[in-house]
Amino acid sequence: MLASCSGDKMKYRIGVSQCSDDIWRDKQNAELRMGAYFHDNVELKFAAAYDSDERQVQQIDSLVNDGIDLLIVAPNQVATISPAIDRAYDKGIPVIVFERKTSSQKYTAFISADNYEMGRVMGEYIVSRLHGQGTVLEIKGLDGSSPAIERHNGFMDAVKDAPGIRVAASLQGDWTEESACEATKKWLATHRDVRIDCVFGHNDRMAMGARKSLGRQGEAALFCGIDGLPGENGGIQLVRDSLLDASYIYPTHGDQIIDLAVCILEGKPFKKETLMMSALVTPDNATVLLMQSEELMRQADRLDQLHDKADDYLHELDTQRVINWLAIGIIALLVTVFVLFYLYQLRKISMQQERVVSTLWNMEPQIASPSFSKEGDVPADDAKNSVPSGKQTTPPLERLGEASPFLSRFREAVEARLTDSDLSIDDLATDMNLSRVQLYRKVKTVTGSSPVELLRTARLKRAYQLLLTTEKSVSEVAYAVGFTAPSYFTKCFKEEYGMVPGDVRK
Ligand code: FRU
Repeated sequence: MLASCSGDKMKYRIGVSQCSDDIWRDKQNAELRMGAYFHDNVELKFAAAYDSDERQVQQIDSLVNDGIDLLIVAPNQVATISPAIDRAYDKGIPVIVFERKTSSQKYTAFISADNYEMGRVMGEYIVSRLHGQGTVLEIKGLDGSSPAIERHNGFMDAVKDAPGIRVAASLQGDWTEESACEATKKWLATHRDVRIDCVFGHNDRMAMGARKSLGRQGEAALFCGIDGLPGENGGIQLVRDSLLDASYIYPTHGDQIIDLAVCILEGKPFKKETLMMSALVTPDNATVLLMQSEELMRQADRLDQLHDKADDYLHELDTQRVINWLAIGIIALLVTVFVLFYLYQLRKISMQQERVVSTLWNMEPQIASPSFSKEGDVPADDAKNSVPSGKQTTPPLERLGEASPFLSRFREAVEARLTDSDLSIDDLATDMNLSRVQLYRKVKTVTGSSPVELLRTARLKRAYQLLLTTEKSVSEVAYAVGFTAPSYFTKCFKEEYGMVPGDVRK
């Protein structure tokens, strides 16, 4: 019953180690959860390191100790997190590195968009927007993190071919808006006179941070970032609202990462390196992109609600199943109790009837006892003692007679004509002023045996007495108690007493 109640199957426990916590990660985590909905055997465990290498290393170790089956990790920095990832990998745990790289080759799969390409395309876009002339301020992502390194390299490669473009500075941020605010403010303090034509932030949040700090000095400047998130305050909206001049969609694709994880866990073929598509967001396409992304988000929201509904429904179904099984259990128990009670009653009735029959012909239990049913078991003396002596103070039949005058009359009728081999049930019925059917029904109801069976029992009983108390031969005894064939007598005798008539004398 319990086994049928629990629908739990073996679950894959997937650990997700996020280097930080921000709107980009939030979107991705929601997609990871959504991806897990589609695989009913996936359980996710999230950990966010809030941009701390130390915390991320601890979190990875503890996920591994918790017994995860696969690790999905976005390493905060390239080199610092690698030892923890290596430890997981060496324990046989498959590792998916996503979006940020590690310095080690110990991973099962890598999935990301091309950060170098993003930097390069953004560089080319800036060159073209500035018509090849101008000063650019770069705000880099966290030092030592692979997207910051690659975006910078791509950007530098793009602008190096444009001699009119000058990179005034590559400031160090850490992916947060505040870090960009601070770095820009600090730089401006010593560069008040530099005119900035464009800011390239390695993400949208840092481009916005620089914009805040530049204030009037940046009024005419272009602001470009990366991430291009949909939704409120996302890069697409910022471009549409002209707060940013360009962004680049940095795909999150959490559901795709879960599909990859499940492929690995189920031993299905998968690509070791997956490059996700991305695209530039400009004032020309921002409105359309926003509309589309809002629609997608609306659909995703509906899916989420649907999932919650399905969850509630499944929960209800589970409860219902338990209730059903309980009800079935109770009914089965009641039926069993009823059947046992019924069988007990039947047995009681049958025992009562046996008692009536044995009492009817004064067959006290010791006569019909098992010791009699085995050949040679009972010494003749004992057997003799067990023959009705007529000396009982209240003979059983009389006791029965008190209770059932009918049976008493029946016994008298039987005994009176016992020796008559032609005696029929019709004769007995006539003697008792009953029809044959009436006699049969009454006798059967009270004793459970038919009149014929009782007549035979009485005859055998009398034969037993005769064998013990007279010198008559077995055949003579058979005839004397109304049997027409001695062989049939012997057969019936054996059935009744478990021994042949000759054994009585022995
Ligand atoms: C999110 C984020 C993004 C950025 C990416 C780089 O945590 O900071 O804004 O594009 O990480 O890894």
